[in-house]
Amino acid sequence: MSITDLPKIELHMHLEGAAPPAFIRGLAAEKKADLSGIFDERGAYKYKDFWDFLRVYEAATSVLKTPQDYYRLTRAVLEESVASNVVYTESFLAPDFCGGGDVAAWADYLAAIKQAADEMEREAGIVMRAIPTCVRHFGPDQAKKTAQCAQETVGDFVTGFGMGGDEAMGKQGDFKYAFDMAREAGLRLTTHAGEWGGPESVRDAIRDLKVERIGHGVRAIEDLGLVDELAEAGVVLEVCPGSNVALGVYAKWSDHPIAKLRERGVKVTVSTDDPPFFHSTMRSEFDNLAETFGWEEADFVALNTTALDAAFCDNATREAVAKKLETPDA
Ligand code: ADE
Ligand code: ZN
Repeated sequence: MSITDLPKIELHMHLEGAAPPAFIRGLAAEKKADLSGIFDERGAYKYKDFWDFLRVYEAATSVLKTPQDYYRLTRAVLEESVASNVVYTESFLAPDFCGGGDVAAWADYLAAIKQAADEMEREAGIVMRAIPTCVRHFGPDQAKKTAQCAQETVGDFVTGFGMGGDEAMGKQGDFKYAFDMAREAGLRLTTHAGEWGGPESVRDAIRDLKVERIGHGVRAIEDLGLVDELAEAGVVLEVCPGSNVALGVYAKWSDHPIAKLRERGVKVTVSTDDPPFFHSTMRSEFDNLAETFGWEEADFVALNTTALDAAFCDNATREAVAKKLETPDA
């Protein structure tokens, strides 16, 4: 068996960001929306840099207008995950895009997403959990609405709360209220930090938002004292190397700090972030890590163990997923 065939756990994937371009083009045609400007001549998403990526991402998301659209999206995305032999996935969902932050509308979208996830679990064995996320550049007030959506739907399926978006907007601490609400509701916390922001953004996230996981976090490597603190505190990084290389955080795979972070004792996991935007899959992430850093099967098994320990799910689910890792066909 090749390394890319191993069963995998993914903790950091944005549902809208995982939308296959052909799927979005199909929806745009059905809704008579002109999205031609966001695709290149081969039909892939086209963007110049991170900020343009966010613009294209939001344009693509604009044709996802109903719970039924999200039902179809969820099935399409999970089918891709299954093709990479992902057995457990946590998906970021933005209530801002699912009903504009309105709790009742969000509940309808979520029911459709969960229906698709339940079907895919029955049909293909993949387990999904949902992490509602606020969008940083929509600001702290909108984030409170998002936290309220998350709070109202916390349960077996909605297990975490997070934040994505433009890390240059404001400070992590501006979103403390939303994160406190989510924590009080029993949700587990993660936020994007140390992707476009430097080490101070990671420090802010841990101190002000009290998150247990960090989305990306890779720029912690610029402050080795912080790296040691992350290792000591057991903070888990949701590292997305293919995303970082595609968006230009690092020029090439061999510049990526994932191996250094791991060698210094930080708990790292591997995810795709927004796979079709970066021409990546979980298979290609594993493949590139093996090729660039010489990682072998035991390294990937260790990655899976770290990810499973850090998964935002209950222990019965964790045990069931552990069995899928032992016996890929279970
Ligand atoms: N939303 C989707 N992908 C993102 C990324 N890589 N950084 C911040 N926000 C995002
Ligand atoms: Zn992300």
